[in-house]
Amino acid sequence: MAVGIFDSGLGGLTVWDAVHKRLPDVPLVYLGDNAHTPYGVRDADDIYELTRSGVARLFDAGCDLVILACNTASAAALRRMQEAWVPQGKRVLGVFVPLIEALTERQWGDNSPPREVAVSNVALFATPATVASRAFQRELAFRAIGVDVEAQACGGVVDAIEEGDMILAEALVRSHVDALKRKMPHPQAAVLGCTHYPLVEEVFRDALGPEVSVYSQPSLVAASLADYLGRHPDKLGQGEEGVFLTTGDPKRVSSRATQFLRREIAFQPA
Ligand code: DGL
Repeated sequence: MAVGIFDSGLGGLTVWDAVHKRLPDVPLVYLGDNAHTPYGVRDADDIYELTRSGVARLFDAGCDLVILACNTASAAALRRMQEAWVPQGKRVLGVFVPLIEALTERQWGDNSPPREVAVSNVALFATPATVASRAFQRELAFRAIGVDVEAQACGGVVDAIEEGDMILAEALVRSHVDALKRKMPHPQAAVLGCTHYPLVEEVFRDALGPEVSVYSQPSLVAASLADYLGRHPDKLGQGEEGVFLTTGDPKRVSSRATQFLRREIAFQPA
């Protein structure tokens, strides 16, 4: 009975935390590929191979369903994995769709044709690879018409967070918000399109100002997963114990994770 959660590093813990709060009885197997973070500066083939190997590890741990709690992996690898690799009976879901469904005021899984929505100017903050993929704009175009998206590649933010340098992370966020506002002075909504960014969400909110609605993924992904598992209870898988796995140094990763989630988290080698 375990669901896998995968990220390039620590950012997916923001999704883990929201899912754990929403579904406390579901054991979660978390895998952070900290040895290879950040993914956002890698090319699509590299991201695909790393993501595939992480997801295979989670399947081996007894998960039938894996959440890619990483926008960069969702943008650069998910579709290719679903089309060419995911074994029969297994499922891999990304984090884009729940966010776009919320932004476009849809029920989870509503695949009706695109229509006009309340927001018309959206700022997207994401890693360089996610921005380059244009996956957000593609998924949005399936659901909404007339939405102008201005994307800001937030170089350096994931690295700073992984290093635990929150002063640098804050300075970088403020400069990326300034850069975005030079291109789109009055966004109505801002999307935090990287699961590391909820760890600095207050800085984004402060820099954007109170008139901008900020969409952050963790609670949206948790609600969408609860809905999905209600409809597909067979996807709970075989594993029965929650565990945190890392390809990096378990001691170092555990200490950062404990700092970010403000609870004791102990990682094991993947
Ligand atoms: N948390 C990942 C995301 O959502 C960060 C990717 C990276 O390692 O650059 O995109």
